[in-house]
Amino acid sequence: MSRCKCCVATKRNLISWSKPSQTEFVPFFPYVWGRVFLGCHGTIAAGLPRNGFSPYKQIMEKFQGKRALVTGASSGIGRGIALKLASLGAEVFAVARSEEALKSLEKEHSNIKTFQLDLTDWDKTRKTIESILPIHLLINNAGMNLLAPVLEATPEDFDYSFNLNVKAVMNATQVVTKDLISRKQGGRVVNISSIAGQRAIQNHLIYCSTKAAIDMLTKCFALELGPHNIRVNAVSPTVVLTELGRRGWSDPVKANAVKARIPQGRFVEVEEVVNVVIYLLSDESDMINGHSLPIEGGLLIS
Ligand SMILES: NC(=O)c1ccc[n+]([C@@H]2O[C@H](COP(=O)([O-])OP(=O)(O)OC[C@H]3O[C@@H](n4cnc5c(N)ncnc54)[C@H](OP(=O)(O)O)[C@@H]3O)[C@@H](O)[C@H]2O)c1
Repeated sequence: MSRCKCCVATKRNLISWSKPSQTEFVPFFPYVWGRVFLGCHGTIAAGLPRNGFSPYKQIMEKFQGKRALVTGASSGIGRGIALKLASLGAEVFAVARSEEALKSLEKEHSNIKTFQLDLTDWDKTRKTIESILPIHLLINNAGMNLLAPVLEATPEDFDYSFNLNVKAVMNATQVVTKDLISRKQGGRVVNISSIAGQRAIQNHLIYCSTKAAIDMLTKCFALELGPHNIRVNAVSPTVVLTELGRRGWSDPVKANAVKARIPQGRFVEVEEVVNVVIYLLSDESDMINGHSLPIEGGLLIS
């Protein structure tokens, strides 16, 4: 493993210390002053090249030539993931139902192509994904939360939620990974689960159950696909104030009660989920497989 020339840290360490979002579009002038004032790791943490080595460039190179599929990319977390992957050089295929939102996403980056698709339609989903294979990076993000107290949850809401939050994930993952195996190519899958899969939440019976199912689906896929060099992980954020997040948590009394249990005292930002997803899609996380990584500021330990 190669090492930074001015200290003992390995390049692998340095990459994981840096934040890709802080490393974009760094002009030459601050690079010079960065080196004068900050020294090696200061400049590297700011994403500035030293000795010809830039962690941002390395991550970017890893996504060049990769084809990524992001479901539910018209808004919120999925949109953030699609844009980040596109900016890191991947060719991104983005699916959701809202045509207008998809068109505006496509305009934001030339690496993004969009497809209007209702993921609860099993056959159409298979056909659409088959038309864009191979996919090396799959992000199963689309999801929704239908809220009700346990005694009022309906079978219709149950079926719809499981169709979208769980069955569609199995569908997309099967199509993408069967193809990779037939091509003898490795790949990465990241499912967007939730802390709701690990903690019971008032009025979230169906949503919590779908996310617990996703955590186990992630483990089962990881177990059987690991030998084919396909890693499958999930991330489990606490509240992110997207459209979905606002549905459950816009009441300040409820929101503050949750924030009070989070040692960091705040909800999660979209970018903070995106960064962990990018890490799980990269080679830097090569021995993480089958896990649901909490992104919750310590909520689970409080
Ligand atoms: N926000 C949170 O607090 C939070 C916390 C933990 C986990 N999550 C998870 O994060 C994921 C993304 O949620 P978000 O917070 O970013 O919510 P969001 O902004 O409401 O995004 C949901 C996405 O899913 C798409 N979608 C919904 N139904 C669909 C369908 N039938 N077919 C295709 N696409 C569909 C939506 O697009 P269209 O409406 O255009 O189809 C949208 O792009 C979800 O899996 C959610 O469970 C969210």
